[in-house]
Amino acid sequence: MINELKSMKVVLIGAGSVGASYAFALLNQGFVRDLVIIDLNHGKAEGDAIDLLHGMPFSSPMNIWAGTYEDCKDADLVVNCAGANQGPGETRLDLLEKNAKIFKVITESVMKSGFKGIFLIATNPVDVLTYATWKYSGLPAHRIIGSGTVLDTARFRYALADKFEVDARNVHAYILGEHGDSSLPVYSHVTIGGKPLKDYQDPNKPNSEELERLFVGVRDAAYDIIQKKGSTYYGIAMGLARITKAIIKNENAVLPVSALLDGEYGQKDVCIGVPAIINSNGIRELVELNLTETEQKQFNKSADVLKQSINQIFN
Ligand code: 2OP
Repeated sequence: MINELKSMKVVLIGAGSVGASYAFALLNQGFVRDLVIIDLNHGKAEGDAIDLLHGMPFSSPMNIWAGTYEDCKDADLVVNCAGANQGPGETRLDLLEKNAKIFKVITESVMKSGFKGIFLIATNPVDVLTYATWKYSGLPAHRIIGSGTVLDTARFRYALADKFEVDARNVHAYILGEHGDSSLPVYSHVTIGGKPLKDYQDPNKPNSEELERLFVGVRDAAYDIIQKKGSTYYGIAMGLARITKAIIKNENAVLPVSALLDGEYGQKDVCIGVPAIINSNGIRELVELNLTETEQKQFNKSADVLKQSINQIFN
């Protein structure tokens, strides 16, 4: 066992395509000391652990094993990727009933171990399941983080970068709201190399219809990928690894995640994608952007969609 490494213990629940890709991303990025994999199919978790360990000579030292809920007792982070994923034509919200039931059992099992760390939720519908994890766990809201719009935002930045032929890391932009069909692009806050989109005079600058089309492509990207290969996993796995790094390295990184609102953006009692400052305590604070009237209306609509789904399981 490698004990001298100071980084933390992560427990991954659910070794499907998303979970396994996340584990692979962690191994490649080398900032986690202990990774425990839990799956209903213990053999799959064991197989993944062994397979990943064989990559060790090409990566940084790491302990990886197939475990049980007991392993959550001293974990810093539990990442929940368990549950069913979307089939072709299914929306994320269609998964709610079955995945909420699975989440209740899992969250209670994690809490029974004495877990006091941070939950990171990836399963869809992620915003509603983030809220459910908050309710089922009884932990303070700042310790419950959903992957939210981290992937939508990455897709948006990639699409803008492609359009403007600029490195995606120099494009700052957010998709907020539901990780799903009611998400919204915050075009009023897009900057490319620090320059606001509205200041671009370039004759090739996309007009408003092209910008709308670009967003629709981003919003519907998962449907396209699911139709082509059955599911999505690499992008979300890298988004989860990014959030994990912000927690483990106490980065105070600003990332769009699903967080419980308490009056921010004019909303309460809903978990929804907003920019948040993330460190080893979880969510340090939410970043409130000054939205345009149209953006705020779209945000409110998205919050309403999520509140309806929350009501389906909590009333
Ligand atoms: C995605 O957006 C399906 O939520 C998953 O890739």
